[in-house]
Amino acid sequence: MKSITLRSPGGLANLLVVDGESPAAPAAGQIRVRIHASSLNYHDYSVVTRAGWEADGRIPMSDGAGVVDAVGAGVTEFKVGDHVVSCFFPSWANGTATIGNFSTVPGDGIDGFAREMVTTAATSFTLAPKGFTHAEAATLTTAGLTAWRALVVEGNLKAGDTVLALGTGGVSIFALQFAKMMGATVIITSSSDEKLERARALGADQTINYKTHTNWGAKVRELTGGLGVDHVIEVGGPGTLPQSIDAVRVGGKIMLIGVLTGYTGDVPTAAMMAKQARLQGLIVGSRQEQMDMVRAIDATGFRPVIDRSFGLTEIADAFRYQASGAHFGKICLEF
Ligand SMILES: NC(=O)c1ccc[n+]([C@@H]2O[C@H](COP(=O)([O-])OP(=O)(O)OC[C@H]3O[C@@H](n4cnc5c(N)ncnc54)[C@H](OP(=O)(O)O)[C@@H]3O)[C@@H](O)[C@H]2O)c1
Repeated sequence: MKSITLRSPGGLANLLVVDGESPAAPAAGQIRVRIHASSLNYHDYSVVTRAGWEADGRIPMSDGAGVVDAVGAGVTEFKVGDHVVSCFFPSWANGTATIGNFSTVPGDGIDGFAREMVTTAATSFTLAPKGFTHAEAATLTTAGLTAWRALVVEGNLKAGDTVLALGTGGVSIFALQFAKMMGATVIITSSSDEKLERARALGADQTINYKTHTNWGAKVRELTGGLGVDHVIEVGGPGTLPQSIDAVRVGGKIMLIGVLTGYTGDVPTAAMMAKQARLQGLIVGSRQEQMDMVRAIDATGFRPVIDRSFGLTEIADAFRYQASGAHFGKICLEF
């Protein structure tokens, strides 16, 4: 069985291909899965390039999708041959979030899915959407579920709502597609006019180049008749939050998801207060929310956008491509 391990002190040059034993047959409550795909997230990149990495031998990648190969005693939810997709929080079944760190997350606190086979608790997976390729399924674990939870679970999105998505990476393109699927109006930003054209082809109603419109919050208000948007998918963090507060409508919701511009910074608290907006931090979602998302995908024919796929042993090239910022939507590993 091939896997990728991250050697201390981390960095793309320390992602090593390892040939090893296949994992044991599943014990009670476990399944063995032949993993066929993973997808890259900003989080995975930050794990493999994290300074001072100490978990020598960690298998990276939070997202995994494949086929059930063996089923342990007592497992009734899956059978051999089922197509499955991994959960970001294998121990968060449902209900309100209780986990505030990454210690239980595959590819970070525990081994992830840059490997051909895994034996683990059956509850670490859900069924994949019907008819999805493994690469498509793999995009759901992190980016898909984050956008779903932000809009549908926390946002209570309804038809006619207005949504602002920042940039054209994995989470934001999912947000664009889910919001359109549910009848919302979407404004999306990008540094690239060419990517904005592609976003329009996916259904974006309005587009803003955030490089040429540095005060894009005001532009969003202008495009919404002075009101601002109901939902902001905030993937930027401190460098974008002031503009997002400017862009949100009075009583709207900002879902604080990303750290693309850094980890700490100033927040215009008075403006936030005056907007009477809700600022909600979130990390991905629960297993039940993933099952709800898969059900919605099965009902609608939704397909995620995959920009490009790489082989398992090309993982460092895949991360280099991600770091270049050339992608639109998701980058995958297929093996
Ligand atoms: N909290 C959670 O549960 C959760 C889950 C998933 C991701 N995240 C976070 O969300 C962020 C996005 O993740 P991802 O995996 O979707 O990343 P990604 O696929 O690598 O997307 C990055 C894209 O963000 C855009 N971008 C970069 N700087 C920007 C800025 N200043 N303003 C607006 N857009 C900007 C760029 O789009 P253009 O090329 O179009 O300019 C870039 O291509 C990351 O910080 C990640 O850690 C959080």
